[in-house]
Amino acid sequence: MLKPEDFDFVSKLIKSRSGLVLTQDKFYLLESRLMPIARKRGLKDLGELIGALRGMDRALIEDVVEAMTTNESFFFRDTKPFDQFRHVVLPHMIKARASKRHLRIWCAAASSGQEPYSLAMILQDFASQLAGWRIEIIGTDISREILNKARAGLYSQFEVQRGLPITLLVKHFQKAEDMWQISSDLRSKVQYREYNLLEDLKPLGQFDIVYCRNVLIYFDQPTKTDVLTRISAQMPDDGFLFLGGAETVLGISDKFKPLARQRGIYQLNRPGAPEVDVTALEKLQAAAAGATSAASGAAAGGFAFPKPKAMQAGATGTLAGGTSGSATPTARPTTPSTTSPRSYGTGSAGTSTTGGTYSRPAGTTGTTGTTGTGTSRYGTGASGGSTGTTAGSGYQRPASPGGTAGSGSGSSFSSTRPSSSTFGRTYPRKPDDKKD
Ligand SMILES: C[S@@+](CC[C@H](N)C(=O)[O-])C[C@H]1O[C@@H](n2cnc3c(N)ncnc32)[C@H](O)[C@@H]1O
Repeated sequence: MLKPEDFDFVSKLIKSRSGLVLTQDKFYLLESRLMPIARKRGLKDLGELIGALRGMDRALIEDVVEAMTTNESFFFRDTKPFDQFRHVVLPHMIKARASKRHLRIWCAAASSGQEPYSLAMILQDFASQLAGWRIEIIGTDISREILNKARAGLYSQFEVQRGLPITLLVKHFQKAEDMWQISSDLRSKVQYREYNLLEDLKPLGQFDIVYCRNVLIYFDQPTKTDVLTRISAQMPDDGFLFLGGAETVLGISDKFKPLARQRGIYQLNRPGAPEVDVTALEKLQAAAAGATSAASGAAAGGFAFPKPKAMQAGATGTLAGGTSGSATPTARPTTPSTTSPRSYGTGSAGTSTTGGTYSRPAGTTGTTGTTGTGTSRYGTGASGGSTGTTAGSGYQRPASPGGTAGSGSGSSFSSTRPSSSTFGRTYPRKPDDKKD
């Protein structure tokens, strides 16, 4: 049992080493995360572990800090920061760096790699415009263990269902036993480095684009200010910073200012910060909002909750003309979203390159229906708004009761992220996630 004075000691130690703030309500959380470390080290109890920490056992302190990190992440998290990258920041930088042809991108709390790999997938769509460029994506994190996972690029079925459009699963991942591994090509595009944001950032060099998402929330205000100040020093006048949905610079740092009309992106608060054209993205956002309202309320061919009983059992899918795939039913979010059509049993898509079409039998599980008519901003397979395919591998949404299947001939992914065929976006917490 942890004593209150031990909690104070450990929380101060963790904060001084990592910036992570442990409030009193994390008492039991700390205890539960220290126990496995004590066991692993053959220590009798938490008292012995605290003794070793007081003796400043460096490796042990690292283990304890690592155990208290929250590594929650998923592909294309929150969608918007990635749409903004694709439609605003990257096109801007392609022009701004046309003579240098060098772009450095930093994911400052990269966790298990979903964020840098999401960016790498987008960059690959710009391959022809970026031919001959040197693009660096550097993912850093304080946790060695999580970076090892990021480097391996191995994700569970659950993890690839979080935010990753099925088209991109098919395009960039291979099945590796019961996991999915991101392609070696994409893995080679990201360099990972263990790095603590409290340390001197100068050795990392300058970055044009910084994603520092969902880590400042764990710091107190002076630490946030300090980290933002030091990040700003690593950026050129025309750089861009992305923060998490619950994070801001307002009232915390005057080194950055929000980019007008787009939440979550910040520019340097310097005279050299350029005007940036966001109209292309605004048009897409407006079109998507229009499509959403057209689709809502189960428009023709659409789907209305509640889900019919016939759709509640397990499903098996096949890949006609390709390899066979299995569909794993997954929990349906309680709140249906009309903006992101979902499929809840996911066909493990196999890797057919011969026009394989995954189709799930009508009336079986896990299929939400589609969003009804309306043109998706991401694809032109508009009937049902449910498809978007990469060449040769189309996900065909089945005809669900009362709904029509989307056409299997959606547009290729070349231009944008398909809103169609994405997996759900509201999720139960990962059971093993170290979320407090
Ligand atoms: C919630 S994850 C965010 C992952 C990703 N950026 C995202 O938004 O999905 C927070 C990450 O910050 C890392 N972290 C916490 N304190 C840190 C520090 N002082 N320096 C670097 N990384 C830190 C944790 O190890 C964890 O992987």
